[in-house]
Order: sequence, then structure tokens, then C-alpha cells
Amino acid sequence: MCGIIGYVGAGDVVDIVHQGLINLEYRGYDSAGIAVRADGELLVEKTAGSIDAFEPPVADGATSAIGHTRWSTHGPPTERNAHPHLDCDDSIAVVHNGIIENYTELKAELEDHGFVSETDTEVVPHLIEDAFEDDPDQSLVEVVSSVTDRLEGSYAICVLRRDEDEIVATRDGSPLVLGHDEDGSFVASDVPAFLEHTREVSYLADGQVAALSADGIDVYEAGELVDLEVETVDWEPEAAQKAGYDHFMRKEIHEQPTALRQALTGRLDDEAGEVDLEVSFPDGYLDSLEEVQFVAAGTSYYAALFGARLVESLADLRASVFLASEYDGGAGRDPWRTLTVAVTQSGETKDTMDAIGVAADLGAGTLAVTNVVGSSVTRAVDQTVYIRAGPEIGVAASKSFASQVMTLAMVAIFLGRARGTLSRSAARRRIDELGSVPGAIQQVLDVEEEVRETAAEYLDAEAFFFIGREVGYPVSLEGALKLKEIAYVHAEGFAAGELKHGPLALVTEESPVLSVLTAGTAPERTRHNVAEAQARGAPAIGFVTEGLDIDQLDVAFTVPDVGWMEPLVANVYLQLFAYHVANELDRPIDKPRNLAKSVTVG
Ligand code: G6P
Repeated sequence: MCGIIGYVGAGDVVDIVHQGLINLEYRGYDSAGIAVRADGELLVEKTAGSIDAFEPPVADGATSAIGHTRWSTHGPPTERNAHPHLDCDDSIAVVHNGIIENYTELKAELEDHGFVSETDTEVVPHLIEDAFEDDPDQSLVEVVSSVTDRLEGSYAICVLRRDEDEIVATRDGSPLVLGHDEDGSFVASDVPAFLEHTREVSYLADGQVAALSADGIDVYEAGELVDLEVETVDWEPEAAQKAGYDHFMRKEIHEQPTALRQALTGRLDDEAGEVDLEVSFPDGYLDSLEEVQFVAAGTSYYAALFGARLVESLADLRASVFLASEYDGGAGRDPWRTLTVAVTQSGETKDTMDAIGVAADLGAGTLAVTNVVGSSVTRAVDQTVYIRAGPEIGVAASKSFASQVMTLAMVAIFLGRARGTLSRSAARRRIDELGSVPGAIQQVLDVEEEVRETAAEYLDAEAFFFIGREVGYPVSLEGALKLKEIAYVHAEGFAAGELKHGPLALVTEESPVLSVLTAGTAPERTRHNVAEAQARGAPAIGFVTEGLDIDQLDVAFTVPDVGWMEPLVANVYLQLFAYHVANELDRPIDKPRNLAKSVTVG
């Protein structure tokens, strides 16, 4: 979703901001623009479409600039609607991520101003213009603070003026991170925007206003200067590069063994059968729990479905999973005995943020499972467990799904041990099996060529159906979603037993059925559902635990025998299958049409 980058300093301003936009492409966008301050002028260039063909302003003496990738909400993706937006005088440039809900009323108030776009954002430079007209002696920080007081909705905003180098940024509900470098200061929606320049960052909180200059960054809260905490992100700059792969997604699929080892590092005590997630709850709280409610969207919802089954079986708790956009507080349950878990790789998804807010207001305990340090969700919950997947640039989630599921498996063991429902010996066995998953995934990655050949063979099918049972079911849903997202082909995931209750009517010789047949997910039952599809002519592709006696498939891929997390290993086959179908069809795999990595609108 919209991406923001701003820079003021001694570096090559235009190049840094232009590259920042390229780094932010993964968030999803349909138009872009840059405003540069050079020799006391504001130069603005915009484009409707991809950054590939974008020519940033030519400005030799540039001292500061702000840039934006727009994912349309109000008004189509035209050049006029692209950010930055300007005031009547072309002296104030604004970029914005989020939605200003009361923009119609504000626009009505600004009737003597000339508007050129259909966006909600454009009211902001005009409000700033009015404020300076009322009192030209105010600082930009003061003006931005008073103007944002009038905005309703969610926003991250950066402002650049013709009259000064300073960039002023503020947020409420949309992410902004600050970057500190010897030569200058950065602001962006996300760290990868400036990762090649600095890893020293500070996270701006809602309501804070940052003033960036070449010498550093001052942050104000309610008009007072606040101390800024500087953190060093441990992401390597190379992690946000393609490193020889054609697509970020393929690179990220291949990074899964490493990502999962990172997720496990230092958290497992296999001797003691304990998991240490560095979370703490009040005495007796975990024992008193009756229910865990998961709230999530998209791929994270499927990870939550997977995790919920594990929590239910290991921790003897009722576990419900809600699509965040449908969450109403989990009617009928006791908030004091409920832990609500937000599963969100970005930590910024608006629906998930709203849902966790509802749960917190009701008095439930809250936990976030996320990838992004300092993201909005971490501030909204009682406790956070990081999945440690490293930056994921491909819009379609791949390694973040694996790391979420792995982290939720640890959460399930943790809860089971804390509540005394999982014996030490059973925990030891499960911990031991978790450790085998990265190696098993590597074995799958090693036979990628076979998956590519299968993808090429079935590429022209009318539709693809994915089936599985138990935790093989969410994996089927995820497999189908990947194919839809990146290959734009019709794909659906079903609980294997449901195939005959409707979807079977769609099954033909032109609709391959891909089945998760791993030990522990009732493969002996699922194989009958596969046979039902085969009897209607459907080709059968299956992912089978080694050693299982299933010989009815047209194409069988072996899943190493590593115990309870085998469906997560099978999922890697499904990712590779989707990737290679999409690649054969020449789709823009890392930036699928209409989709955004981080959805910060509801
Ligand atoms: C977007 C992304 C999906 C992601 C979903 C939830 O739709 O394209 O890949 O699964 O948001 O994102 P979250 O950051 O909350 O996991």
C-alpha cells in the first residue's frame, strides 16, 4: 500500500529518494511522484503507472525531497491524483498514506482554494497554506500539528516547503520510521526504503511530529521535545536485494530454511522441553484462560488456522480464528479468560489493528505475532512474539507464512507447558521435530526443477483445486491463494471431506487436484477424496510423507518424515508450484496487479 520516503542531507537527494521509491515498490502501488527542494524552488514530477519509466525531477542543488508510491483509494491512478500534492502557491508539498475520512467537509471549508485532484490528501497542503496565511511566523512543526488535529481517519504525512530544507512528518494509524545517518535524515513507511544507507532507526508513535534536518531529527509530542530511542535493525541491506534471483518471491521461498532457523534460535530448550518466547503474563493468567482468539487477514489468517489447531491440541484451549475484518469481539465469550492473538506479518494491517483494538477494549489479553519490529501492532498489544523472517519484499507472502506457523507452533508448546497440558516428554519430541523442519524444507527446494516441470505440464488447466485435512486444510487454502495471487488462475482450497459436498461438480479432466497427504493429517481418508476426483478424470498431484503407501497419484512429491509440521514442508511445494505457473505465464510475480503488501485501509 502507499509508500513514503523523505530525505534531507548531503547525499544525492534525488537519487536517494528515487531509489527509496523503488525499494518500496513491493508495498503495491499504481502511481508515484517526487517533490524536490532545490535552489529555493519545489520541483515536482509524477507518473501514473510504474516507476520503471519514471523520470525524477532534474535538480543539481537539491537539499531535500519527499517521494510517494500511491495505491489508489480516492480517485483513479492518474498523474493528477498521484502525490505529492501542492497548495495554491506550489510552495507546500505533501505525501500521505491512509485515508482522511472528513476530507469532504474540510474541502468545503477551503472553497477559495483551487483543487486539481480527486484525492482526500489534497486538503492537507491547502490547510497548511491557510495556517501560514493566518500566522506566517509559526514553524512548520506547529502548523502540521494544528492541521493534523483537524484530520479524522488514519494517516502518515510528510511535508516539504519551498522556504526551508526541513521535512516534517507525523502519523496516526499509519506507519512511519525514521532513519539516522551521518550525512542526513530519513523518513519512510518501512525500513527497506533506506536500508542501504542506515540501519539506525527510530519508530514514530501516533501523534508525534518529527522535524528532519541534515543535522538530525527532533521529535515533538504535544509541543514538547521528546527523547528519541534509536534502534539498530538487524536486517542486512542485501536482504532487501534480489541476490541473483529473478524474483524476490523465489528468493524468499529459498530463504525459508534460514528464516525458520532464525525463528527457532535461542527459544528452544530441548532438554527441559521448554520454549522461551520472552513474554510474560500475570501469575495465574495462562491457567485461567478458556479461549484463544486469533485475528488475521489473508495468508496470516491461514497461518492462524494452522496455529489454532495446534493450540487446541497442545494447550487444551478453545481456539477460534476470525477474519480480522469480520471480528466483532467474539460474541459470548469471557474477555477476562480470553487471549486474543493478532497474526500479521507487517504489523500494520488496518483490519487486524481494528480487531485487536476491539479485543483490548473488551479487556482481553492481547498478543501480536509479527515480523516487523516496532510496527503498529506491537504498540497496541500486551506482548509481542517476533517471527524473525527478515524483510519480505514479494507482495505474496511466502517465508513469512512459514515463520508465522513455526512461531505459532512454539506458542502452542509454550501454552501447553505453562498450563500443564503438555508433558515434558511430549514437548521434547515436538521441539525436536521443529528442529528438523528447515532441513526438510531444503530437501524440497532441492527438487524445485521437478516442481517446475509439473507446473509447466498442467499450466493450461481450467482450474486447480487444493485439498487437505486438519492442518493440511489451511495449507490447501494457502496453496490456492498463492496461485490466484501471482498466476491469476482460478484456484480454490477445500477441506478434503467437503469436496463431495459441492465443489466436485466443478471437477473435470481440466482441473488438477493437489492434495496434502502428510502423516498425521488423515491421509488415508484424504486419498479417498482424491480418488473421487480422479474418477471424474481430474489429474491428481499429491504431497505425500515418505514411506506412506499411496500409489494412485499421477504426480507424487515426497515430504520428508519430520513429524507434526510436515504440512508446512508440503506448503513449500505449493509455493514453488504457484511460482512456476506464474513464471511460465510471465506474470509480474513480485507485484501482482491490484494487490498490496501491507493493507493499511479498512
Ligand atoms: C495483504 C498481503 C497478503 C497478507 C495480508 C495480511 O493482502 O498482500 O500477503 O497476507 O495483507 O497482511 P499482514 O501484514 O497482516 O500479515
